[in-house]
Amino acid sequence: MTEPIVTFQNIHKSFGDVEVLKGINLDIKPAEKVAIIGPSGSGKTTIIRLLMTLEKPTSGDIIVDGKNLWKMDKNGKLVDANEKHLRQVRGDIGMVFQHFNLFPHMTILENCMTAPIHVKSEDKKTAKQRSIEMLEKVGLGDKLDNYPSQLSGGQKQRVAMARALVMRPKVMLFDEVTSALDPELVGEVLEVIRDIAKEGEMAMILVTHEMDFALDVADKVLFLDEGVIAEQGTASEVIEHSKNERLQSFLKRFRA
Ligand SMILES: Nc1ncnc2c1ncn2[C@@H]1O[C@H](COP(=O)(O)OP(=O)(O)OP(=O)(O)O)[C@@H](O)[C@H]1O
Ligand SMILES: [Mg+2]
Repeated sequence: MTEPIVTFQNIHKSFGDVEVLKGINLDIKPAEKVAIIGPSGSGKTTIIRLLMTLEKPTSGDIIVDGKNLWKMDKNGKLVDANEKHLRQVRGDIGMVFQHFNLFPHMTILENCMTAPIHVKSEDKKTAKQRSIEMLEKVGLGDKLDNYPSQLSGGQKQRVAMARALVMRPKVMLFDEVTSALDPELVGEVLEVIRDIAKEGEMAMILVTHEMDFALDVADKVLFLDEGVIAEQGTASEVIEHSKNERLQSFLKRFRA
């Protein structure tokens, strides 16, 4: 049995009095592609933010590649994780945001090189070479010296992808990465994600409203509803064959 790369064990998350996640249990295998669908406010982004350590669970454990995200071993006892431990675990996780979050004052090549150099202490030459490789992979090999402001939304999103890939994460998180794009730019970004997904080795968690894309790419689909996983299975089971009424009425919105 392969060990999961990501595990959520009975994760609860509240903001003030409002419980947003109500006991999430989840195992993601290395290389597994998991799509999360669900209505606005159901907690999808919160799951992603917990994995990025941008939020801390109210209770429960998150394990990434065998390491507990928020706890570490100290002389045989589990204690609260320190910043160094968090940084280490976070190193296995890459993310692409809805709004790109590129550095505007850096060229796209510099955008990709900066984290390997400053976070992973990679030498500049290697970082540059690998960044060029990744930018070529996302189809931007001819834009290395452009600034983000000179690119289309779809191109910016592809830079964001290259920048995450250059860190060689074991898990990549995508939170509605096409929802801020003009419709005609969505396809090129999904195409790149599809290519990365087919390459294999990395696990991916994709929050998406693109049902055809989920059907094509995802090994597993989770339907999140009011902070619980209300349905899960293969993409076809969940998107095409589920009897769950709330899921069906949610999916209706995406059918022409
Ligand atoms: N920092 C916060 N403080 C207070 N409430 C929050 C915070 N972050 C999220 N919430 C609330 O938690 C709930 C779930 O939010 P979340 O962003 O995870 O939903 P979502 O499923 O990603 O929705 P959408 O599809 O609109 O992006 C919402 O009711 C939201 O208002
Ligand atoms: Mg969201």
